[in-house]
Formats: sequence, C-alpha cells, structure tokens
Amino acid sequence: MADETINLYSDTQTLPTEAMYEAMRLAPLGDDQQQLDPTVNRLEKMSADRCGKAAGLFVPSGMMGNLCGMMSLAAHGDEAIIDADAHFWWYEAGSMFSVAGVAPRMVPLHDGLLDPAEVRASVRPPDAHLPRPRVLWLENTHNRGGGCVTPISLHRELCAVAREHGLKVHLDGARIWNASVATGTPVRDYAAEVDTLTFCFSKGLSCPAGSVIVGSEEVIAQARRVRKRLGGAMRQAGVLAACAIVALEQQIERLADDHANAARLAGLLGELRGVKVINRVQTNMVFADVADTGVGARDLAARFKAAGVMVSVTGPTTIRLVTHRHITAAAVDEAARRMRKAIG
Ligand SMILES: Cc1ncc(COP(=O)(O)O)c(C=O)c1O
Repeated sequence: MADETINLYSDTQTLPTEAMYEAMRLAPLGDDQQQLDPTVNRLEKMSADRCGKAAGLFVPSGMMGNLCGMMSLAAHGDEAIIDADAHFWWYEAGSMFSVAGVAPRMVPLHDGLLDPAEVRASVRPPDAHLPRPRVLWLENTHNRGGGCVTPISLHRELCAVAREHGLKVHLDGARIWNASVATGTPVRDYAAEVDTLTFCFSKGLSCPAGSVIVGSEEVIAQARRVRKRLGGAMRQAGVLAACAIVALEQQIERLADDHANAARLAGLLGELRGVKVINRVQTNMVFADVADTGVGARDLAARFKAAGVMVSVTGPTTIRLVTHRHITAAAVDEAARRMRKAIG
C-alpha cells in the first residue's frame, strides 16, 4: 500500500470483481432494444422480484433512472416536491427542469431527513392558476445528507402524505442497498410504498455501469419509452447486466464492511487537528468540516492528494470521504496517518 493512492473520493471508483469479468465473458447476449438480450431480461426480472415490483428496466446510469422515473410520473409543467439537497436537483445538470420540464417545490432537509409536516405544507391546493403538484421525490441513502438512512417508519409517513394528496412517489435509491444493510429493512419494504425506485450497480456494488428502475408494468412500459427518447436504449447490454447480476448475488452483504470502515474512518478523522466530522455516519460516507485546520477544503484536498489520499470537496470548508470495496480497515488507518501528516 506504501505508494498506492487511497481513493476515498467516491464508491463510484470501484472496479469490477473477477466474477464480474467472468460473467461478462459468458453472458448470452441479444438486442436489448427489442428486449432480446436474455441477460438484461434476467437482470430486470431479478431486480423487480427483489423489490417486490412487477417490472424493471435496465438503464445506463442513475441519472437516467431518475429521469425515467420523473418523466414517467409527471408531465412538462408539473411540480415535484423535492428537498433542497437532492442529488437530482444538485448534481444532474438541471435535467429536472431542462429535460423533464418539472419545477421543484423545495423542502428543507434536516440532518439528512425530510419532515412530513413540511412536505404536507408544501403541497399546493388544486387551482388552475398554480403549478400542479405531481410527485414526491425521495432519496435514500441521502448523499448530501451524509449517507443518512431514512428509516422505514419515516419513509411510510412521507409516502402517506403523498397519497393523501394524490401525489406519485419516486425513490432515488442509488444506495438503497446501503440503507437496507444498515437497518436490516428489506428493500422491498421501501419499494412497496413508492411508484418508482431506482438503484445503482456502479457505486458500492462495484459494477462498471448501470442502474435499474422498478415499478408496475404500466409505469415501466412508460419508462422504457422515456429511456428510448433519452438515447439510453442499448443493444448487447447483457455484458453490463451480467455484472449487475453478480452484484445482486455477491456484493450486497459486504456493504456492511464499508459501513464499519466509514465508522472507523470517522473516529480517526475526528482526532485530526482542526477536523470535525459533521454527519451521522450510518453508511459509507463521512463528511468533515476542515475550517479549523486553517486551510480551505480545496487546498487541503490537494495536499491530501499529494500525500496519497483522494477525497471530494463539498463546500468551501467541507470534504467528503467514502468507503468501498477497495478500502480495507488497514487502508483507513493508513489514510488517517497520511492525512495527519498532510495537515501538519
Ligand atoms: C443519490 C444519487 N442519485 C443518483 C446518482 C446518479 O448516478 P450516476 O452517476 O450513475 O448517473 C448519484 C451518483 O452519485 C447519487 O449519489
């Protein structure tokens, strides 16, 4: 490990496992645009079954899964209730309004969580003068919320508010398996409450690409059409789906190791001069405020990089560190040692 960079930038940095490479080589393939790729078909069914939904659709990215969800549930000019820190709003290039044509009705996020009362208060009454509220947008685990888990009880309360007002619900579950492993709540319990759920294979589950969206037959037929319109319909996508099947079979339980390593990392970070951990570390993310080091986050991240540790910058004085399959407990300890030295 002596010279190797320890990459805590994101769980998106993970590389395929040997079993994935093998599965890619052996996967039966076909033209997925005609639904003739047996491996994609198998993955879509497996994903839907695991989530207790009728159908699934394989898409190239989490972002496309989100767009397929939004554009299947809402029309141009509609409004979605979404928190001000949602990934879809912050990091998906404004596609919510520029591509889906849906306006955000912002609600605040409190320590990674939504408040059902605030969601209820944000639903506009039916009125021809007002935008039409259509969708409640959820994210679990919540990325900018610190990798925080929305517990199933709160999830149910939020979805009940949506139902009271006739809203559809989309769950951006890019890391829903992390939420499930952290709490012991089956993903199907979360899925049961929502119309569409997306999750990613290309983050902690180690695949090179791909996400799925699951829902009813009707909504997934709609999503299939949206995927095509967005240019996301692939051909022999079974090479990617083969990795995703391996991920579902082999990579989920081990997310618990990432969570344990994140907790270990948080403990060590908290001992570094001027560094304060600012999130509840429930899954694989650690956020820290570094203002008291006397160095801005960007400059400190550059120093860390020079010392062999990659982190991401989330604000002028904040950084994020994410554990994943390539980060062992020993790598966490070594990263802390390097960061201590870099801070000086
Ligand atoms: C919560 C969340 N949703 C969606 C995405 C988008 O995934 P992708 O980068 O595959 O488009 C990400 C990516 O990090 C994410 O963290």
